[in-house]
Amino acid sequence: MTDRIFPELTEDALARMKDAPNKRLAEILSVVIPHLHDATREAKITTREWEQAIEFLTRTGHMCTGKRQEFILLSDVLGVSMLVDAINHDDGGEGAGTPSTVFGPFYSGRQDVLPKGASILKRDEEGDAVRVEGRILDSIGAPIEGALVEVWQTSPTGLYDVQDPSQPEGHLRASFITSADGTYAFSSVMPVSYGIPVDGPVGDLLDALGRHPNRPAHIHFMISAPGYETLVTHLFIAGDEWLESDAVFGVKPDLIASPERVAPGEFRIDYDFALAVPHRPS
Ligand code: BEZ
Ligand code: FE
Repeated sequence: MTDRIFPELTEDALARMKDAPNKRLAEILSVVIPHLHDATREAKITTREWEQAIEFLTRTGHMCTGKRQEFILLSDVLGVSMLVDAINHDDGGEGAGTPSTVFGPFYSGRQDVLPKGASILKRDEEGDAVRVEGRILDSIGAPIEGALVEVWQTSPTGLYDVQDPSQPEGHLRASFITSADGTYAFSSVMPVSYGIPVDGPVGDLLDALGRHPNRPAHIHFMISAPGYETLVTHLFIAGDEWLESDAVFGVKPDLIASPERVAPGEFRIDYDFALAVPHRPS
């Protein structure tokens, strides 16, 4: 047992929020502050360690630009993003829909809507071709017409267009609108596993913890339609060596797809997504 050093400090910090105009913020901090104080007590944080923590967060902030979000990355590798996702999306409950997963830092805004079946490549790529198709359904299996299906993935180099100036802007990104039967389809190159960026403080953190930075091959989806909860998810590729140890804890078994080989160098993934009805506050 650790002695509870300076308990009146924690009580004082809590008491000072009693007239907070922002009630929700005060509610959250009345949980966070005691945990933060107790964590500081239990780990017996030294003055130098606290300075290092501040330096780390300062570097994390300085690393952020319009194209790089190091704080999202930090939340992802600490498992907080998946925890927030789990709290807010009820996997497997009644009317739950397809499981969600991390958004990640590489969405770059809505892309032009392409016709069904179009390629999302803006230049040729080495790699197996893959056609991804299926339906967007509601939670009882009825097709949703007019759903917006946004997709993004890395090139076979393992980099997104926003990380790699040699790729055309918008390469391997697109939007599609489902037809009356709820179907969507696009063609692409088979996604590859890749490492999240390690050239910043989050990379240093992973190194210091002896953790690898790798994510299993996946395609990102964000699917929205009026009257439904927006679904942020991925399709992972079966057989990937990193499925069991995704650096950001994003893999869920229902999101693993097995591409079917339709010709030499050509694969097909058939996957239906279900959208949930809006989350009811409990
Ligand atoms: C991604 O899949 O794009 C991603 C997710 C979390 C952290 C880094 C990258
Ligand atoms: Fe990704």
